[in-house]
Amino acid sequence: MKESVFQPILGAFGEFGGRYASELLHRPLAELARARKEILPTPDFQAELQAELRRWAGRPTPLTYCSRFSRDIQLEVYLKREDLLHGGAHKTNNAVGQALLARRLGKQRLIAETGAGQHGVACAMAGARYGFDTTIYMGAVDVERQRPNVRLMELCGAKVRAVTEGAATLKEAINAALRAWTEEATVAHYLLGSVCGPDPFPSLVADLQSVIGREARHQMLEAAGDLPDALVACVGGGSNAAGLFRGFAGDPVRRIGVEAAGEGLHTRRHGATLARGRPGLLHGARTYVLQDEDGQTRDAYSLAAGLDYPGVGPEHAHWHETHGAQYVVADDEEALAAFEHLSRREGIVPAFESAHALAFCRRAVREGSLPRGARVLVNLSGSGRKDLPTYFARYADRGDHL
Ligand SMILES: Cc1ncc(COP(=O)(O)O)c(C=O)c1O
Repeated sequence: MKESVFQPILGAFGEFGGRYASELLHRPLAELARARKEILPTPDFQAELQAELRRWAGRPTPLTYCSRFSRDIQLEVYLKREDLLHGGAHKTNNAVGQALLARRLGKQRLIAETGAGQHGVACAMAGARYGFDTTIYMGAVDVERQRPNVRLMELCGAKVRAVTEGAATLKEAINAALRAWTEEATVAHYLLGSVCGPDPFPSLVADLQSVIGREARHQMLEAAGDLPDALVACVGGGSNAAGLFRGFAGDPVRRIGVEAAGEGLHTRRHGATLARGRPGLLHGARTYVLQDEDGQTRDAYSLAAGLDYPGVGPEHAHWHETHGAQYVVADDEEALAAFEHLSRREGIVPAFESAHALAFCRRAVREGSLPRGARVLVNLSGSGRKDLPTYFARYADRGDHL
């Protein structure tokens, strides 16, 4: 394969983003960028997308005020319930949108990568509904820790390919999916699952996820009569956070992204790309990347499979440097405690990923990050159902951590 790279000006976020990709992907990426500009905004496409999101995917998702959890942590906590979206996570917003675009482009196959398996599930479901032949690339380690999701993808007719290279997690799965796309781009669409990768993916995925923020803003005004003081969302690649933040563009609201500190930032087993990475190239974009001393991409780790990615969406890298948003971290232990706390007090079991956002909230008043009584809108990006086998096998008996 010829490995030339190029970077267009369009699609960049400050110095981040761009399209550093194999020449073989030039044409499909340009085609997708055109579709984003010329098909996505049309009334016809939007009507189809909104109808599918409503009738098939279950939008709008509710906003839930959590009185008992709020009292415990001295904040006013509202949850945007993406855990109740069809498929169990926010990933369905993006999968439906891109699958419908792919159909307009005449593609017959979908290729996708998945980490936690939620994006794979969303793609398998959308692939079934819109009649695609769907192949999902998934790191072999993730296949093991997200078994129920693998079964679900297969039930919906998708083929799941375990990727054994390297750390065998999300980074390798994306590489495998990009490679497969170079070979069949005329008939296949690569349905990338976060605001990462070469332009136009970061913009396209953020467009499709911004429904979260738009709905939540409206619901917040209705429920509380005012905007929130802060928006809080976990950040893996950054799509649920970008979707929430974009709905409040121009509002005087703090935006807080929570990365995974894994076993601790002082160990070598963490995610937290913005906290611990530096600018570099990953998966076709210039962004923050976890790197070793020689500039090689390091493996990321988090209890939450959706957060152990050594890159981050280029828009977040831009916001990080320009203070458009603030990024903090929460580690595995804190996320587990938040997972138990919300389950116990509100009867809502969050995904391990979303539990990182709640973990920050639990300590925010104590550490002075937020004032007592602040109104906080947390994106509950997914349901913890997929994490129950791991939780019960490994963590349920570690004592009461509330
Ligand atoms: C429930 C859930 N939340 C968050 C994420 C992280 O992705 P992103 O940062 O793109 O929202 C994932 C990824 O798989 C996920 O499954």
